[in-house]
Amino acid sequence: MQSMTVEERIRELREKINEHNWRYHVLDAPVITDAEFDRLLEELKQLETENPELVTPDSPTQRVGGQPAAGFTPVVHRVPMLSLDNAFGVDDLRDFVRRVRNLAPGASMEFVVELKVDGLAVSLQYEEGLFIRGATRGDGEVGEDITHNLRTVKAVPLRLRRPVTLEVRGEVFMPRSSFLQLNQEREEQGLPLFANPRNAAAGSLRQLDPRVAAERNLDMYTYALGYAPDFKETTHFGALQKLRELGFKVNPQIVLLTEIEEVVSYCESWRGRRYDLPYDIDGLVIKINDLALQQQLGTTAKSPRWAIAYKFPAEQAVTRVEGITVQVGRIGTLTPLAELAPVKLAGTVVKRASLHNEDILREKDVRIGDHVVIQKAGDIIPEVVEVVFSRRTGAETPFEMPSACPACGSEVTRLPGEAALRCLNFACPAQVLERIVHFASRGAMDIEGMGPATVAQLLQAGLLADAADIYNLEDKREALLGLERWAEKSVDNLLLAIEKSKGQPLWRLLYGLGIRFVGARTARLLADHFQSIDNLMAASPEELEAVPEVGPKIARSISEFFALDSSRQLISKLRAAGVNLALQKETAAQGPLEGKIFVITGTLPTYSRDEASRLIEEAGGRVAGSVSKNTDYVLAGEKAGSKLEKAKQLGITVITEDDLKQLLNL
Ligand code: IVH
Repeated sequence: MQSMTVEERIRELREKINEHNWRYHVLDAPVITDAEFDRLLEELKQLETENPELVTPDSPTQRVGGQPAAGFTPVVHRVPMLSLDNAFGVDDLRDFVRRVRNLAPGASMEFVVELKVDGLAVSLQYEEGLFIRGATRGDGEVGEDITHNLRTVKAVPLRLRRPVTLEVRGEVFMPRSSFLQLNQEREEQGLPLFANPRNAAAGSLRQLDPRVAAERNLDMYTYALGYAPDFKETTHFGALQKLRELGFKVNPQIVLLTEIEEVVSYCESWRGRRYDLPYDIDGLVIKINDLALQQQLGTTAKSPRWAIAYKFPAEQAVTRVEGITVQVGRIGTLTPLAELAPVKLAGTVVKRASLHNEDILREKDVRIGDHVVIQKAGDIIPEVVEVVFSRRTGAETPFEMPSACPACGSEVTRLPGEAALRCLNFACPAQVLERIVHFASRGAMDIEGMGPATVAQLLQAGLLADAADIYNLEDKREALLGLERWAEKSVDNLLLAIEKSKGQPLWRLLYGLGIRFVGARTARLLADHFQSIDNLMAASPEELEAVPEVGPKIARSISEFFALDSSRQLISKLRAAGVNLALQKETAAQGPLEGKIFVITGTLPTYSRDEASRLIEEAGGRVAGSVSKNTDYVLAGEKAGSKLEKAKQLGITVITEDDLKQLLNL
């Protein structure tokens, strides 16, 4: 490495980073850890800071450019971005094929069937392999330049694997889990919620400041060529394969079929399966495979004659409201819920739906005994759309929100400017439960196995009273084993997950404390700024407001939180338990495998198992005997058996001895 110039090292780092980005985001098969990836990116950032003249626009450090866009510049599409005709059932599908047959008699036909991901169509332009412009669909003829935001989407390659000039089209979308988390954070921050993942994706791409899109975890599938005169494929399926090779992310669920009846059953098969996907689809797209035949068929003013969208029927259901209950949330918010006669909707059986708050309950005039139309907002959270008034009998009972908290009996208040009623008793058992659940949740301390049912059980058994008590559970093994549904193995797993969480970064802890208006993003900014919980607790409101994006409302909420005795006691207990309360310790003092759990299987080429274990442990890692969800890596050699199988099943990264050496910089 010594003989390498800075320029060469920068080039090498970019190539490596691009390669790993591609493996992670496109192939979904990373070969290095996130930490290792971050190290490469950090080194590149450092070198580019020292040598600003060497920064290029396609450098992986440049996904978030410095300058917000001044406005959206129009982009004229060289090939119009058309929409699709819809087929609302299998008869419409058969009609489509009949039409094609009439227009092109005798042509042999193959169909490519793709998922119709519910997001936003975009166009991406590349010149000699370099991403130069990205645009929305707009009216199909002219879209808007959103290059600055599309650069932040990891599935958009900034440089292709070959220096080709072309335009592609695809769908940008937000995975359902990211949408849920985003809305949860927005709710905590008092911001309006997005109705569904598509709106959230659209809202993210329509921002002038690319830092917003960069935080939103957007993804993209490329599904077609745009203006690409040099592209020499003869079939759509072949073109998709080429796009994949160039570095684009192409949906893996695409099939090539020859019979219309196969197409019909494939489409129908997704009606039930669609909810197993981590993102929303609103149907499938059927395309003629042969590009010459596509040309021959041509387009109408609005849509191609060689493709059709098979749309799923809208997922709504009618059911009866058997009762209305009131749920108390983490900060004491009272939410009315409709208890429903169970009904199947969008892949699950729905028994409850949110009525949001007192105002909405009144406005919709939902009464016990009413028949209501329900749907899932963004296909996820069931909600009551409206009452079927024609089915009212007069025997329905109106519902009044309670004046006392249903969980603790304290008086409830409606705070000025808020639609919700709140229980202000910090010790309210419903709030305690929700606080602990939030603390342990995936977005916060991420303690696997510590979900709502477990927390409720442990509260009931007197093993928990607050979130910090989680860390006393290791002394209560016997008591845990005595509880229903718990056995050696599940207790081990839980205790291991708890132990692991002690080393979580400071921002996760801050977020997990559940301070009002402090979502994950604010928690990160606070952690970066104050570096430790002690500094944060000692900060004055003015000092808090010096943090980007922290205004008086958030500052006041933080000060109020830490002024409470209960909060201070919680922090002391966490400290005593050895939970990390500062920005991660210096990496120098930590081994590169700090906190990582390994399982070794099979015969390694040069190291004995003991040697490998020792190396891992010296670098801060741990070696476990069996593969579980907590395992970070399986180190596999010759004749690896069931452990390797299990690792594959659980999707755990499998590495070779060489990879281990690389992780250890040997
Ligand atoms: S092809 C000329 N393929 O559906 C045909 N569209 O109603 C262009 N979409 O605007 C579209 N997944 O936003 C195509 N695999 C897919 C798609 C897809 C989603 C969206 C796209 C388009 C809309 C058409």
